[in-house]
Amino acid sequence: MSEESRPFISRGSGSLSEKSDESSENFVIERHQPKSLRFLRIACILEFIALILLAAGMILAFQTRPSESDSDLECARKVSAYSPLLAEPELVKYTEYDLPLYFNEKTDYRGPPTPEREVMWEKLWHQGAFEVPEDKLGVMNKSHSGRTYKHVPPEVGTGYAAQLEVLHQLHCVHMLRQWSYKEHWLDRGLDLPGSLYGDPKLTRMHLDHCIEVLRANIMCTSDVTPILIELDPKAPFGERADFRSNHKCRNFWEIRQWVIDHTAIP
Ligand SMILES: *[C@@H]1O[C@H](CO)[C@@H](O)[C@H](O)[C@H]1NC(C)=O
Repeated sequence: MSEESRPFISRGSGSLSEKSDESSENFVIERHQPKSLRFLRIACILEFIALILLAAGMILAFQTRPSESDSDLECARKVSAYSPLLAEPELVKYTEYDLPLYFNEKTDYRGPPTPEREVMWEKLWHQGAFEVPEDKLGVMNKSHSGRTYKHVPPEVGTGYAAQLEVLHQLHCVHMLRQWSYKEHWLDRGLDLPGSLYGDPKLTRMHLDHCIEVLRANIMCTSDVTPILIELDPKAPFGERADFRSNHKCRNFWEIRQWVIDHTAIP
């Protein structure tokens, strides 16, 4: 048999030929050459696999070495419905801080209406509409809703006009707050402000809508942050809830600014 005809000879037939031809030098050469060839092939394949793994590792390392905020953003995208704001690489971020919410804590937004306070509240939410790209109707589950949606003006783009949920929620809080202080205007013989003005039936519907918006959104978010109970002999029952809980919050002011910077319909 020539060397060419049996380069990958099996162990079984090798030992057979060993018995039939014990002293053959040819046999020794034939037996060793295929073996070293096999090692060479295996070494080549391993080297190839190692190279591919190395290249893949380098690509992964350079592309997705996540900074803290990058990984937060990735998580936010994963656990949120579609939003063009989450498509922004640097917009939505998280910071941990204590919310200033002690039972009697003073904040700029708290208290009866004053001209300055009403302006501050209005500035929280009163922004225009921004554009949602035309091809995102599907991910928003609105392709087959059977409804027709308003587009942004053609000079702005081809997408749809949209308002931001957080601003809508704040509008609802603002409206309920003003309703809770309605005597401030009524006692002075003034018209009720903002959305409270007009047909009382419509106002009632608007207020009930707002209560539902806040109820459903609060349940949807289900904030699981614990609120501790502080022991204090001076407190009415010897204890009180510590509402100044440490929260992990989105950067509201930059999110609001994005809406202002992307106004499609004022
Ligand atoms: C998608 O929209 C349809 C109505 O068009 C609704 O019945 C369905 O529940 C929605 N799916 C999800 C996952 O929200």
